[in-house]
Amino acid sequence: MDFIFSLLFLGIIYVLLIIYFRSRDPELHWNWARLNVDDLSFPEGFIWGAATAAHQVEGACDNNNWHAWEQGGDGDGRDRIRGGAVSGAACEHWTRYPEDIRLMSNLGIRAYRFSLEWSKIEPEEGKFNQAALDHYSVVVDALLTAGIEPMITLYHFTHPIWFMKKGGFEKLENVAFFQRFCEKVFNEYSDRVKKWCTINEIEVEATQSYFKGDWPPGKQDGQIMGKVMQHLLEAHVRVYRALKILPNGDKVEIGLVKNIFQFDPWRPWHLADNLAGRLLNRVFNDSIIDFFTTGRFKIFIPGLVTVDHFNSQALHSNDFIGLNYYSHLPVKFKWDRNDFFEFRARPTEIPTDMEYSIYPEGFYRALKQIGKLGLPIYVTENGIADFQDDRRKHYIRRYLYALSRAISTGSDVRGYYYWSLLDNFEWAEGYEMKFGLYQIDFNTQKRVLRDGAVAYQEIIARHD
Ligand code: GAL
Repeated sequence: MDFIFSLLFLGIIYVLLIIYFRSRDPELHWNWARLNVDDLSFPEGFIWGAATAAHQVEGACDNNNWHAWEQGGDGDGRDRIRGGAVSGAACEHWTRYPEDIRLMSNLGIRAYRFSLEWSKIEPEEGKFNQAALDHYSVVVDALLTAGIEPMITLYHFTHPIWFMKKGGFEKLENVAFFQRFCEKVFNEYSDRVKKWCTINEIEVEATQSYFKGDWPPGKQDGQIMGKVMQHLLEAHVRVYRALKILPNGDKVEIGLVKNIFQFDPWRPWHLADNLAGRLLNRVFNDSIIDFFTTGRFKIFIPGLVTVDHFNSQALHSNDFIGLNYYSHLPVKFKWDRNDFFEFRARPTEIPTDMEYSIYPEGFYRALKQIGKLGLPIYVTENGIADFQDDRRKHYIRRYLYALSRAISTGSDVRGYYYWSLLDNFEWAEGYEMKFGLYQIDFNTQKRVLRDGAVAYQEIIARHD
């Protein structure tokens, strides 16, 4: 009898724990057969845009941490970049930007998010290259002339080699170098550029570069990962405050760009999957949102990483929040001391060419989650890698439906920047991932609008 009661008791505890985990941010699934994805509405003045990042499109980024990384193998004969690719000439966007601006106009977009390549602007410590500064000034003017509003990202995964040699963002004291660069470029363009993103996806850079070791500098150390997250958050807060007191600071919007992948349990009823997912959500999503609502950045994975940091200035350090959203990553627990989980795309969902599937309901959830910050939201990235171009249209229509639904239920979303305008250098995936609205033949640099991208063009035309 006692045994049966104990079993019953444990069963109840188990069920209660599962209910607790499942209630936090439940995995939504809509009945798409009953939904009308053309039923869209967007607020007056909603911004339709597209996004890129310097290293992925410009070409000749040969003085930064990624360039250094691309040149080497990883020591065991494996390529660091898929197919042994190097970013090289990329999309030659540095010289072809006038054509690319015409492509934007052809799509009907009115906003362009791009990043400045720090290593071109400050190739040596403290020495600024006037030609590079002038280049971006010309690009800004060309965009404005075309009626396209520029949004600048100050840091999108790349930094100069001299900064890398100093230890990059592993060292808190190096934040001062980044701040100096930001102040310099802000003074150059803030008379014309009204939207500024400080740092792109702190959590992605920290994980890939310092935990998984797939990105430069290829480290695998949870504690360093945590420190880098802390330092990048500090960099954001300091840069925000420094720019706000410069001329035009009060006239522009400045915000961080946060990526959200939800770590849903692969088996909803499985305690270990729920626990692993909860831990990952805590470390990569909640911790950053908490930092901006409480000033405290706290992450803890036993034996792996402990960070507890407080800065009250974090509380008012965003005029908006940028959200990058692609999908969720269902987590399956493994009995392996060194690698206690794996990600698995749900077989019931349509795959993309990346490791994750199409999951528009997650976009809705992410908008609600990021909305907890109480800030205006710009969707600074959203898009699909789809080599065959047989899912892009579907993706665009469903994700924009989710966006519209989030707005109609109260989310304060002001704009949407599709990732990406062009096929480009997809970091460790090289050139094999095709995210572009425009396909590029990298032998000829010819750009062609993808059929699937027409869905975006049509929605913009209907809702502009
Ligand atoms: C984001 C990143 C972009 C791009 C995109 C597609 O995480 O900011 O640079 O690579 O993913 O995977």
